[in-house]
Amino acid sequence: MTDDRTNDAAARIEALRREIAHHDHRYHVLDAPEIADDAYDELVQELRALEAVHPELVTPGSPTQRVGGAPNAALDTAAHVAAMLSLDSSADPVAFQQFDVRLRRALGDEGVRYSLEPKLDGLSIEIVFEGGRLARAVTRGDGRRGEVVTANVRTITGLPERLSGATVPVPALVAVRGEVFLPLDAFDDVNEALLADGKTPFANPRNAAAGTIRQLDPALAASRPLALYAYDLLESEVGGAETPFETHGEVLAGLAAWGLPVNPEHAWARDADEAWSVFEELAGRRDALPYEIDGVVVKLDALALRRALGSTAHHPRWAYAIKFPPRKEVSQVLRIVTSVGRTGAVTPVALLRPVSIGGVTVSRANLHNREDIERKDIREGDTVRVERAGDVIPQVVERVEVAGERGAPFRMPDRCPSCGSVLEPRGPYTVCPNAFECPAQRIGRIVHFASRRGLDIDGLGERTARQLVERGLVTQLPQLFELEPAMLETLDGFAEVSARNLHDALQRARRTELPRLLYGLGIPEVGAAVAQTLAQRFGTLAAVRGASIEALEAVDGVGPVMAGAIHGFVHEPRNAEVLDALEARIETLPIEVVEPEAQPLVGVTIVFTGALERFTRDQARAVVERLGARAAGSVSKRTRLVVAGSDAGSKLVKATELGIEVVDEDGFLAYLEGLGIDTGELTGGAS
Ligand code: IVH
Repeated sequence: MTDDRTNDAAARIEALRREIAHHDHRYHVLDAPEIADDAYDELVQELRALEAVHPELVTPGSPTQRVGGAPNAALDTAAHVAAMLSLDSSADPVAFQQFDVRLRRALGDEGVRYSLEPKLDGLSIEIVFEGGRLARAVTRGDGRRGEVVTANVRTITGLPERLSGATVPVPALVAVRGEVFLPLDAFDDVNEALLADGKTPFANPRNAAAGTIRQLDPALAASRPLALYAYDLLESEVGGAETPFETHGEVLAGLAAWGLPVNPEHAWARDADEAWSVFEELAGRRDALPYEIDGVVVKLDALALRRALGSTAHHPRWAYAIKFPPRKEVSQVLRIVTSVGRTGAVTPVALLRPVSIGGVTVSRANLHNREDIERKDIREGDTVRVERAGDVIPQVVERVEVAGERGAPFRMPDRCPSCGSVLEPRGPYTVCPNAFECPAQRIGRIVHFASRRGLDIDGLGERTARQLVERGLVTQLPQLFELEPAMLETLDGFAEVSARNLHDALQRARRTELPRLLYGLGIPEVGAAVAQTLAQRFGTLAAVRGASIEALEAVDGVGPVMAGAIHGFVHEPRNAEVLDALEARIETLPIEVVEPEAQPLVGVTIVFTGALERFTRDQARAVVERLGARAAGSVSKRTRLVVAGSDAGSKLVKATELGIEVVDEDGFLAYLEGLGIDTGELTGGAS
């Protein structure tokens, strides 16, 4: 892509990577962070979001390829038992033919046989067993040293802690090479959970696996079911006195005999043509595999011949990766239509001249939102490049310049294609504000309302919600509570007992906790965490509805966009009617309200910068946050106060430029005391 926006994105991505690297150094090496953790997270999130839109700009060195929650420069590193080389590779059949020719020229034809395996799209890892016991697991790193990720690798099911020597003796030192990956269904689950928490999902399973294996909390790794296939053994062990392996096939059998997981997808080929057929056959099945692969690895089977060929500094001369061509194809946009999602977001979709991409016929592709389509300037009739990444919906990547007249620029409709309501812009998105009546949103909203974090109504999933809506039994959420067992019994899949159970579950849900109700309403931008803070601040649904935009914005974690969205949602007249009806039917349990009086600093943003001496930055931050303030990482117009220690740098300059009040540590304590706040916690009681 060569348009200016991509160049902008590339420049921003570069800037973000530099900034993140700088903060990593401040945090991990100098132990002197300049920004708060949440400001750091914001940078990483922004980078991840940009990379998701521009996967072609993702590089192996990007912090997103190693960050998975916590920054991880804190991981120890270790040298590999032997260098972990790369693979010679190409998507070009001629280049692969040449590999075969080179190899035969050096060895002759005698004994040449290839072993073929899928090229797994994960991360390669070295796992060392000492005395048969798992001693450490190290990422590839720079090929010589990598990061020690033993604790996370231990969470992989199927990886033995101890190798079995029952059929094949286990050498004292075993260094196994393999690939760690996240199976596709687990990838979907991980992303779904991230989305439910209001976080940015991973762009692909590889990133998700990398983020998981390199973060610091093994409990988090354990919650994401990583998998591993072992595919190689350190050269010095094989064919040695202790192991009888002479071929790669024997190595794989040996790895399996020791109890290691070995990919059952495996084939043999006598020559390049046969190898190519295997490649094509696997390419056709690529989408049916439960994990991502990006090609086929062709390896010389005989270990003695491998030794004869040796390696370059970069790759062994006895192996070659035939890569799948990128899953991108050119097609033509026949029409652009819009569809309304379950949350009311109106998504433009390109209807394409059908095209086969990686064995799947694609006739629709996602254009995401108003800004995306404007940025790429996609119009009906345009020639476009379409990509399928992982199992995600195909996307229009870019427009391909062709000579000739173009159609008119695309305009989002003014009215909802499902219910006719006047649409509203919300950030880059366009949304239908008619949350509860719009037919396109009805089913999704019932499912969300009844979901586990919502009212947690057992037996009310997608299938049931669909029937309720399609049979006209529920046109509005509150009608759920009027459903009689006899009506429920008429639904497919229901009988007397199950109908009564659902009825009882619905009636039980009429007494619930406010955070569940707020979450279940599907208010835009309000995830489970915000629902909780809103509930604590306001105590009742009525109070949330009565809150001003300012009062909403003063709630921790609620910014101006979110405050506007919440306010707009509850005051939309049709939504308000539904909320009235729900309030009449649902009783929320009392919750301890955190009064704003107890938080005199609500709405105040404070920045700490420079070296503090009397107390740590964390202590100060904790105190002001408890009082309702936001401790921000950078100075902006919204900053109320800058607390500057010695060596304060650019933030101090910026604060001065913006005319923001700057105080030193003593001034900060005086500021708090002036508000009647006890500062004993910061001064050790001796202020
Ligand atoms: S063999 C010295 N077999 O591909 C060669 N590699 O581009 C050792 N990979 O870093 C590699 N699946 O992470 C081998 N079945 C497979 C593989 C595989 C994936 C990766 C591996 C390596 C990369 C090279």
